[in-house]
Amino acid sequence: MDIISDIKEMRVRSEKARNSGLSIAFVPTMGYLHEGHLSLLREGRERCDLLILSIFVNPTQFAPSEDLDRYPKDFQRDRDLAEKAGVDWIFCPKAEEVYPADFVTYVDVTGELTNVLEGASRPGHFRGVATVVTKLFNIIRPHIAVFGQKDFQQLAIIQRMVDDLNLDVEIVCKPIVRETDGLAMSSRNVYLSAKERQQSLAIFETLCNVSSVVRSGERSAQAILRLACGRLAKEKDLVIDYVKCCDPVSLHEVEKIDSDTVMLVAVKIGKTRLIDNHILCQEVQIQ
Ligand code: PAJ
Repeated sequence: MDIISDIKEMRVRSEKARNSGLSIAFVPTMGYLHEGHLSLLREGRERCDLLILSIFVNPTQFAPSEDLDRYPKDFQRDRDLAEKAGVDWIFCPKAEEVYPADFVTYVDVTGELTNVLEGASRPGHFRGVATVVTKLFNIIRPHIAVFGQKDFQQLAIIQRMVDDLNLDVEIVCKPIVRETDGLAMSSRNVYLSAKERQQSLAIFETLCNVSSVVRSGERSAQAILRLACGRLAKEKDLVIDYVKCCDPVSLHEVEKIDSDTVMLVAVKIGKTRLIDNHILCQEVQIQ
């Protein structure tokens, strides 16, 4: 496994591989890898000849008040996990090279897809994500790029961007990987104290409750949201940012639940913000 930090070297190597007929799978991450990330790597490994992982904590997707400076890092551990997952190359560029002092060009997916949910709570976040993902796609030029359903809105926005800009890459989505007690895996879970970790289980419980109520016939989004907020409100240190039932493509809120309606949740517990989602009507799976 090779570790590459120079953008030009990455570009030249990737181009050579592509020209020699190898298929390239790419998994972009901010590191501090967990089973969720590894599931994406396994998918890429199965589908393509060459598997490239990027580790880059992208400053433009963090607001000044957010956790850029304390975002968890452990490169040695990431390197070992990546090697075991069959990664061929890790790309870990330096922020100064990705964003030189004279950098002024951003990719902005506009409209309702980005204004709502995470976009409403974290203004500018998706502009940073779309910009860095475009840059990484341009440097690596992968055939496929694998993303997680965990960041549902991010995935919808990246798919929109790929379609709108005619980017030549297939976006592949993998389901949410959860801890054995149901909490969606996230690099940020390390921020939780033992008590907060316990309280965080309300999110999974809520998604399970709601799903089973929908499966037994409830179709009113209002009733479902009332149920979800009622369950979450039982944890007194948990602050709801949003709970919504949305169309999975447009992310418009729906009044009537149907087979592909997605419920999206964001809460704050102490200083930690957690997001989760689930396609209603389906059984919630722990992988
Ligand atoms: P990061 O949070 O490191 O996530 C990298 C990828 O792992 C994303 O596609 C995310 O959806 C996926 N992922 C995270 N937790 C998961 C889980 N529990 N199950 C399945 N997949 C999971 O998302 C980012 O980084 C950044 O915004 C990035 C796309 C790299 C751009 O900077």
